[in-house]
Amino acid sequence: MGDRFRDKVVIVTGGSRGLGRAISIGFAAEGASVVVASRKAQSCQAVVDTIEAAGGTAIAVATHMGRLEDIDNLIEASYAAFGRVDILVNNAGINVAFGPLSDIAPAAFDKMIDVNLKGPWYLSSRIAPRMGEHGGGAIINFLSVAALSTPAFSGIYAATKAALKALTEVGAQEWAQWNIRVNALAPGSYHSDLTDGAIEAIPGYGEGMVNAALIPRVAETEEILNPVFYLADEAYTTGITLVADGGLMAKR
Ligand SMILES: NC(=O)c1ccc[n+]([C@@H]2O[C@H](COP(=O)([O-])OP(=O)(O)OC[C@H]3O[C@@H](n4cnc5c(N)ncnc54)[C@H](OP(=O)(O)O)[C@@H]3O)[C@@H](O)[C@H]2O)c1
Repeated sequence: MGDRFRDKVVIVTGGSRGLGRAISIGFAAEGASVVVASRKAQSCQAVVDTIEAAGGTAIAVATHMGRLEDIDNLIEASYAAFGRVDILVNNAGINVAFGPLSDIAPAAFDKMIDVNLKGPWYLSSRIAPRMGEHGGGAIINFLSVAALSTPAFSGIYAATKAALKALTEVGAQEWAQWNIRVNALAPGSYHSDLTDGAIEAIPGYGEGMVNAALIPRVAETEEILNPVFYLADEAYTTGITLVADGGLMAKR
């Protein structure tokens, strides 16, 4: 076990699968106490079991990021277990609104806003003053290159992530007084349930992603973990969007 994040308490939303799971396990392996939050209690508990088996510390808190009462409960459970929160990783995000803007149902739009934008805003804004009481901390919001490249047929996803970028910059300004750094991470493509499912289901999808980047492959989750650690650490960095996209934006 490393000790880069010893004595730190980290909340990871969407911490049960894909990159979120790797982030949860990665922070625990560096000495942090981790709160694993996603909708399914059992999936969160499986990650906690893995962390504990390796000698780490974690709790599972079932949390739907589209339900404010769940988010209140997540905050209370985290403080009840560990007394403080130092790092919040707003990783949970969905895309249930693929397709042309004219075809998107209002209910899908609302769900995207709730999970990708309103939930991270509510969680961050309610936890920031409490982080401040314990000397500050770091908030990391997961965007996507879609927030910057605004591709057709992913418009609602791109819009929620672009709006979260705006809130990242506002949060950085408003919470600097409490020694809280607020940054965003915009990954390109990396292996996850979401990505691997799309590669399998949609002909040409994987090839398209590989061809779009200067580094011609889909990233491994570990390659996204290092940028997360950088933003979580005592970096002289706030209000930015760190892009980890294999050169996708540069190639456009
Ligand atoms: N994969 C990529 O290539 C890629 C690229 C750019 C950006 N991103 C962004 O990176 C983040 C993680 O993506 P991923 O691909 O790792 O996702 P993923 O493999 O689909 O995993 C999603 C995680 O979020 C949880 N989750 C889903 N809906 C939730 C909700 N309403 N409330 C709370 N938790 C929820 C899931 O667990 P439960 O089912 O138990 O809730 C799971 O732990 C997202 O913000 C995504 O937009 C991904």
